[in-house]
Amino acid sequence: MSDEVVIRCRLNGPLVVTGPVRVVDHEHQPFDISARENVALCRCGASGCRPFCDGTHRKIDFQASELAADQPPAAT
Ligand code: FES
Repeated sequence: MSDEVVIRCRLNGPLVVTGPVRVVDHEHQPFDISARENVALCRCGASGCRPFCDGTHRKIDFQASELAADQPPAAT
């Protein structure tokens, strides 16, 4: 497994995180993601198991097709 963390914005879908990460709640308690090679984080807000994606984005026709090339440079 690579040490690099990659967050991929899926077309009209979740943020898929690959690499050595932990996902914690607002009290810093970790979600058990030990059995997963990657995690899909909901960005549509409609998942029934947030913060993870459960596929609901397809049912609500979530639209998110941003491309990196179209974005302004990140603020520093
Ligand atoms: S992005 Fe998949 S349920 Fe929200």
